[in-house]
Amino acid sequence: MQFETLAIHAGQEPDPTTGAVVPPIYQVSTYKQDGVGGLRGGYEYSRSGNPTRTALEECLAAVEGGRRGLAFASGLAAEDTLLRTVCRPGDHVAIPGDAYGGTYRLFDRVHQEWGLDHTPAAGHGVDAYRDAIRPGSTKVVWVETPTNPLLGITDIAAVAQLAHDVGALLVVDNTFASPYLQQPLSLGADAVVHSTTKYMGGHSDVVGGALVLADDELGERVAYNQNAMGAVPGPFDSWLVLRGIKTLGVRMDRHCANAERVVEVLASHPRVTEVFYPGRPDHPGHEVAAKQMRAFGGMVSFRVAGGEQEALAVCDRTEVFILGESLGGVESLIEHPGRMTHASVAGSPLEVPGDLVRLSVGIEAVDDLLEDLTRALG
Ligand SMILES: Cc1ncc(COP(=O)(O)O)c(C=O)c1O
Repeated sequence: MQFETLAIHAGQEPDPTTGAVVPPIYQVSTYKQDGVGGLRGGYEYSRSGNPTRTALEECLAAVEGGRRGLAFASGLAAEDTLLRTVCRPGDHVAIPGDAYGGTYRLFDRVHQEWGLDHTPAAGHGVDAYRDAIRPGSTKVVWVETPTNPLLGITDIAAVAQLAHDVGALLVVDNTFASPYLQQPLSLGADAVVHSTTKYMGGHSDVVGGALVLADDELGERVAYNQNAMGAVPGPFDSWLVLRGIKTLGVRMDRHCANAERVVEVLASHPRVTEVFYPGRPDHPGHEVAAKQMRAFGGMVSFRVAGGEQEALAVCDRTEVFILGESLGGVESLIEHPGRMTHASVAGSPLEVPGDLVRLSVGIEAVDDLLEDLTRALG
């Protein structure tokens, strides 16, 4: 079955009791046992398993083309569970030179203190990752593509080869692209990470995370720790993400189409000094993006003439684009990464320019978005 069909049906057989076509929200913590150890359908306690979450996890595995899908309370909870499953004190991780600030903070401020060292790649290319790898101690190569917020592109297949040559796992944060636009496991990645808060949920009404693993053995190890560490989503949150995934394909088509129009306008605007979007032929990662992505996504960043104060003023002036953190919802959002989502990377190798503005282009009527941005730029 193709992506759009899997998104609607995988893990979601009509309810055997009532025929309900949508998996019910099993708002329950525990399950009656038919005698000690006599579990019905394998459920004993909702941290270990819940039928609504199972439906989501089966759907996640199907849409990413993986062997095992696991849902978490947030994207960062998913990242943390994966790292603590596959790394030990003394190990090393090669990380992106541009990434979501919270991901960098997890490596730099949390895992570093437990003895997990990291090196940011000095760029998005294969050579930058090769230089960041320490053969022998690198256990994970962590890629975000496109990156947040600079929309850098990394060649997943090439870096998978690099990682596997030194016996490391390749983990890809697929939050910006979503599995509709890009399927890292099919390109050689071992694990995919999502903040399902973003495009997967799609409506800015839930915080969640996901891991999809390429093989059963790794899937089992992470599933064990999902239960042992306990950062699971509740039934209602699982249901919201599952509902969001059903429309992911049509939403992404519209996000991409709107973003392309926004990029055209920004690129020719005299108050915009640089536009970051992998769909632009002059983007350094354009060819790789065209090879590994179906389209170029709904995220756009740009630099504003006049520096940080002007960038902040543009963020204040939009009306349709809502000033706020997060991304990937149906509504357009604008933000200043340096002061908002990426404040935690200030002073680090991942620091972002002060004149940078990031847009999450929503699925509203594009003319309203263009008018709003043009007015805000002045
Ligand atoms: C690319 C990326 N990865 C991971 C995360 C973390 O996800 P969450 O906020 O759901 O913990 C985010 C959040 O913004 C993100 O943008």
